[in-house]
Amino acid sequence: MAYFICSSCNYGSASWIGKCPGCGEWNTFVQKQDEKQITKKKASPTQFSTLKKIGKSSVRQSMGMFEFDRVLGGGIIAGEVVLLSGEPGIGKSTLLLQIIKNNVAIYVSGEESLEQVQHRAERLHADIGHILFSDGANVDQILSGIEEQKKPHLVILDSIQTLYTNDVETPPGSINQIKEVMNRVIPFAKKSGIPFLVIGHVTKDGDLAGPKTLEHMVDCVLSLEGDTSSPFRILRSTKNRFGSVDEIGVFEMKEDGLHEVNSATALLDITQKREVGKAIVGVCEGNRPMFLEVQALAVPTTFSMPRRVAKGIDFNRVQLLIAIAKKYLNLKLDSYDIYFNVIGGVRVTSPLADAGIIAALYSSVLSKTISTNQVFIGEVGLLGEIRSGFLGKKAYTEAKRLGLKPLEPLGFSSIKDIKKFIVSS
Ligand code: TYD
Ligand code: MG
Repeated sequence: MAYFICSSCNYGSASWIGKCPGCGEWNTFVQKQDEKQITKKKASPTQFSTLKKIGKSSVRQSMGMFEFDRVLGGGIIAGEVVLLSGEPGIGKSTLLLQIIKNNVAIYVSGEESLEQVQHRAERLHADIGHILFSDGANVDQILSGIEEQKKPHLVILDSIQTLYTNDVETPPGSINQIKEVMNRVIPFAKKSGIPFLVIGHVTKDGDLAGPKTLEHMVDCVLSLEGDTSSPFRILRSTKNRFGSVDEIGVFEMKEDGLHEVNSATALLDITQKREVGKAIVGVCEGNRPMFLEVQALAVPTTFSMPRRVAKGIDFNRVQLLIAIAKKYLNLKLDSYDIYFNVIGGVRVTSPLADAGIIAALYSSVLSKTISTNQVFIGEVGLLGEIRSGFLGKKAYTEAKRLGLKPLEPLGFSSIKDIKKFIVSS
């Protein structure tokens, strides 16, 4: 009997279905062979090697940008396949063009013509005379073409959504094409030892446009985040087989491309004016201490269900922190619409921002400010207790070094003590 499964989420069905009931994707069902029909032959034996032997593959190649290398775990590994995702216009092509100016690379762009790429390179003052370019889109031809070249340090594919193989009938960008293209790129990279950086667009919800399995297939997934209205961009690793995840790199988009930002306070307003609803949080994103401004606005609501809007902070976290503030600070928050924003268009994922988020909210509800340079570092628990842990201490030490005023780690043990830091109207 024929059996069909979804190539995106493995949902099984006896008949072919256009839209998968499991994940909602279209045209993902493929026929699977009946297991009984698979004859079991003796397979050729696997060759094992000792773990002691360190091959060439563990040597990391620098991308010529410290912030990029850091997110990769210290550079790229031979044969590694990295997926770089991000919204259109965020700066993915710019970032990779800046990287290849430091490397002997092949750049394949189905997105832009040679002229457009040359234009961008001029803007970046990048000498790209040594780069081999193609605007081809047939992945099989591209890989054979690469084989004929002297081994490049790096291959860039911009983007996975424009590539195709003639062996799949659906158009470029469809799930089956994306998967099949990756199925060819990955073994090629492993066999040749050439690292690949592959750009992938994301949908409006922030999901990678393509099957989830794509993320499982590659070695490393990086996302370039930010708000196009702000110049700052965060490069974050969400999966890394050769390094730690949640490591970040910070960049600033200028007239001549992305510049590395290594100061932990780059995103702060240097005047540090006191303002109602503003708090500075100290966090560690990955291993890197960072100081960010969180703003809260609480206004009396006219809705039966008050509004909660959060930009740059996880919405569930916000709901939880509002509940904690209601309980332990006795705030009547059901009668307020509440808005949160993190300045610089960045997203904060560390729970160490909790105390500062509540402080900003408290400041807005009371219409009072928080003392200048006060930095909040602390995760808030369900009992209103504050914790800072190892990463909190790291952020604390860095804040001290920068002349900010962090709370002593565990300097206040309950969120109730936050009242101490509110100074005036
Ligand atoms: P781009 O790299 O094309 O984005 P993506 O590949 O992610 O779609 O970057 C596009 C934006 O970056 C565009 O709005 C212009 C801006 N930009 C600069 O501000 N400075 C620069 O030097 C360059 C090359 C682009
Ligand atoms: Mg682009």
